[in-house]
Amino acid sequence: MSDSDAGVWGDQTKPAAAHEPVLYEAVLGLLEYSGSAVVLDATVGHGGHAAALAGGLSEEGMLIGLDVDEASLAAATEKLAGAACRVTLRRENFGHFDEVLDDLGIGEVDVILADLGVSSAQLAEGERGFSFQVDGPLDMRLDDRLERTAADLVNDLSAEELADVIYQYGEERYSRRIARRIVAAREEKRIETTGELARVILGALGIKTKGRRSRIHPATRTFQALRIAVNDELGQLQRLLAKAPERLKVGGRIGVISFHSLEDRLVKHNFRENKTAGRYEILTRKPVTAEAAERERNPRSRSAKLRVARRIAAPAA
Ligand SMILES: C[S@@+](CC[C@H](N)C(=O)[O-])C[C@H]1O[C@@H](n2cnc3c(N)ncnc32)[C@H](O)[C@@H]1O
Repeated sequence: MSDSDAGVWGDQTKPAAAHEPVLYEAVLGLLEYSGSAVVLDATVGHGGHAAALAGGLSEEGMLIGLDVDEASLAAATEKLAGAACRVTLRRENFGHFDEVLDDLGIGEVDVILADLGVSSAQLAEGERGFSFQVDGPLDMRLDDRLERTAADLVNDLSAEELADVIYQYGEERYSRRIARRIVAAREEKRIETTGELARVILGALGIKTKGRRSRIHPATRTFQALRIAVNDELGQLQRLLAKAPERLKVGGRIGVISFHSLEDRLVKHNFRENKTAGRYEILTRKPVTAEAAERERNPRSRSAKLRVARRIAAPAA
């Protein structure tokens, strides 16, 4: 597992870089398309990448932006207000992107971009509960229409179920110890906030806040695991990847920016399988990562990996 900006002690919300789209140049350079293309930004967020992509589209082109988060969509609406192309923004999970295309009467698109995970703005907002460094309710839902929050998982799962979630989605080797400590703590009182959970994790690992032993905050893996479970992040990514080849035009491109090894592995394997099946040419032999200057400016870019593939005509069966 690599460190995300959520995990590095102390530097998680550098305001100057709050809305800088990651790997901006590489995304624009690798996702080639014509002015009349249909471009799908599956994670439109605050519209940073989308505005740049829309800049390459004419009046005949179309940008479709999806996000499950209403606040992000509001920001994207504003950002994309001056675009020359048609813009359609929908509050939809990208696992269902095909349904949005069906609804719009669009068969295939020229570009699919997914910049996974949580934006710097979502991370910085304590109320959303993504961060252990900004105290807030233990929520972690990207989509507030979902029923189950992180607090529900932490307080209702059995010790074994919790340990499995923390191990599988956080690749945390102390998962059992942390799960046992959570269960002991919640017997005294329901765990309701990110700060409470972070303290329980530090306690389980015998770490005092002042005695930093590693660059990565000890709660990083557990928080990542809960967020993935709450939002079914890997399931939705698998759905997007599985449906992409049939909705990409021949010559069209898909780019995915991932932030931890579980996501990157899914993307890498999916692209390879599609290559073997004669559907994709892989344009990034190795994933593109951020240069030193971007890593310095924007902590979120440090764990970003971009992979891009091009849809090619499958050979006749
Ligand atoms: C890293 S941000 C994207 C930032 C964007 N590229 C930009 O330049 O502003 C990821 C966004 O994807 C959204 N998101 C995450 N998972 C999603 C999913 N399965 N379906 C739709 N949106 C999702 C989040 O709400 C967040 O706004």
